[in-house]
Formats: sequence, structure tokens, C-alpha cells
Amino acid sequence: MKYDIVTIGDASEDIFVQPRDMKVIKDSKMLSGKAASFELGEKILLEDVQYEVGGSACNTSVAFRRQGYNSSLVVAIGQDTPGKKVLERLGEESVSTELILQDQSYKTNFSIVFNIDDERTIFVYHGLKDYSCLVPNKSLSTKWVYLAPIGQGDEDVIDRVSVLAAEKNVRVGWNPGVIQIEKKAQHYRQMLKCLNILFINREEGIRFANFPVKPQIKDIVKVLHGYGPKIVVLTDGKNGAYAYDGQSHYHIEAVNQQRVDATGAGDSFAAGFMGRIMQDIAETNQDSIVDALKWGALNSTSVVGYIGAQKGLLTKEALIEGSMNPDIRVEIYN
Ligand SMILES: Nc1ncnc2c1ncn2[C@@H]1O[C@H](COP(=O)(O)OP(=O)(O)OP(=O)(O)O)[C@@H](O)[C@H]1O
Ligand SMILES: [Mg+2]
Repeated sequence: MKYDIVTIGDASEDIFVQPRDMKVIKDSKMLSGKAASFELGEKILLEDVQYEVGGSACNTSVAFRRQGYNSSLVVAIGQDTPGKKVLERLGEESVSTELILQDQSYKTNFSIVFNIDDERTIFVYHGLKDYSCLVPNKSLSTKWVYLAPIGQGDEDVIDRVSVLAAEKNVRVGWNPGVIQIEKKAQHYRQMLKCLNILFINREEGIRFANFPVKPQIKDIVKVLHGYGPKIVVLTDGKNGAYAYDGQSHYHIEAVNQQRVDATGAGDSFAAGFMGRIMQDIAETNQDSIVDALKWGALNSTSVVGYIGAQKGLLTKEALIEGSMNPDIRVEIYN
């Protein structure tokens, strides 16, 4: 096999700024009751700026590489400055850029993250309008695929990943995005049937499984597991994460840590969890799921302690060492 893991999805440049003169105002029309305000036509001073690289496929390919896996990614970038930044970072991390589509007809994704009053407000530019160009080759030589959230044109990519799983024995982890969540799990029977790990957060899980009322965690993971994935991993922000393998339920608390920037929490959890499962030589058992939850929690805790989605990604050694800490426990119940 050429690769241990190939990730598919987005890569972007993420610029983090700290504006000085933006005020938080009360606004009952907003869901949170709060809005940011600034004087129209004013110059807003930025106190700090940090240039980072992000995008779920890019974050996870770097995460897997830090764990020692031979990783590559299928993303589309333009011949522009953000595209160059993405390539530069991947080069520094020794992630293979061989599968990247770079063309002047694409514009690389980028986002600007405003940090105002401990909240992050993100302006996102999606350069890729049709994700069907990301369909991986039928002869893709990899043990694992991680499919990150993707936009319109997703169907072709998902169909091809299902074929790779069903016919080529490629193992697959999937974190569905907004478009897939809206189409609901029923729509993805084929994909879910051959999935090794489904990664989803609590709110997404409720929508994806199409619950009319707010369900128990146990019911969400059971329904999703019923569609076929061997393991369902449901994250719940600072409440930690849950897993279900069809037999036991698992829960891990979030590892306590000062949150600096939540960007990349989901990606790093998934890459930590999956990275541990990828170590299994025999069938995945209870012990490896316990360890995998620890790797996920440790990786994500580390990432939210830094600005950007990649800086805190841990090495395999750090994950092994961290998971030996007796304070980090996984609860197993039926
Ligand atoms: N404030 C925090 N402190 C410590 N750990 C956190 C914090 N926020 C998230 N995590 C860890 O990250 C994991 C994933 O977070 P979350 O459930 O928010 O994912 P998500 O909603 O998919 O995030 P994303 O916005 O990155 O897609 C959690 O299960 C938890 O272990
Ligand atoms: Mg997420």
C-alpha cells in the first residue's frame, strides 16, 4: 500500500485576528442574543494577526502524519497565495502532496476568524463550488480513507469511497458535513453500511438520525450504529465524547484545559481516535476503543489550547504517554 491514510475534503488558509474597536451589543434578533457592532466606514484596528493553515482534510492529514502515518490528501487548491501556504505547511510536515489538485481555475478556501469577547466569528470563503473533482481514483492505494465534510457534488465522492470500501477493502472514517447531515442518514445507507467509524457531534447526530424530539445520547448512537458503521463516535464539546460499538457504550470527559481557540476540536478528536484504531492488527476490541477515546480527547484538548487547528496536534509518543495518565478514564456501560 502506498499510503496508510488518505484524507478527502478541504484545505484552507485561516487568518486569526483580534479587532480592537468591535463592540458586543445585545440584540434580541440574534439566536445568542448578542451581536458585534462597528461603525460603518470606520477603520477597525486589528491588535494581532496569526496566519494558519486549516481545512478538515488538511488538519487531519497533518494529524495522522504527526502520529507517524504515511498520509496524503485529496483537496483542490488554486495557484494563489493561500494555496502556496497550504503546500508549504504540508511540505514542512512531510505530508504527501501528490494527490492534491492544483489548478488556476480553483480559488483556495480561506477564512478570517475574529476573536471578539471570547467568541469566534468566522468569515469563510469556499473556493471550491463543486466537490465532484475530489472523487478518488479507483486504484487509490491506501489502507484507510478519512472523508471530511464536503460541499455540493458530494454524491460522486461518497459513492466512490463506498466502492473502495466494499470492493477494495479500504477502511473508512467519515465525518459528514452540513450538506450530508441535512440529507439524513437514510440517504447514505450504502456508505454507512461499509463504514468503520462515523464521527459526528451531538447536534449533528440528532439531525442526521432524524429525531423529532431531543433524544438520549444512547439512542442517537444506537440508531446511527443501526445503519452499519462498526463504531459510532459522538462528540459533545466540553462534555467530552461517546462511542458505541453495538455492544458497549463508552464515555470520556473532555480533558480539562484552558480553551484558547476551539478551531479544529472535531478534526483533532477524530484523527486521534482513528489513529489509535489504525494501530489495531487484529479486530478492534474494547481496549482499543478505550485507548482511542483517550487519544481523541488528548489530541483535541491540546489543539484547543493554541490558536489554529494544527499547532497542538500530538505525536504518537505524546498520545501513548498521555493515555497512561490514570486521571484520564473511560466509562463503559451497557
Ligand atoms: N473547551 C474544550 N476543552 C477541552 N476539550 C474540548 C473543548 N472543546 C472540545 N473539546 C474536545 O474536542 C472534542 C470535539 O469537540 P466538539 O464536540 O465541539 O466537536 P465539533 O462540534 O465537531 O467541533 P468542530 O467545530 O471542530 O467541528 C470534544 O469531544 C472534546 O473532547
Ligand atoms: Mg465537527
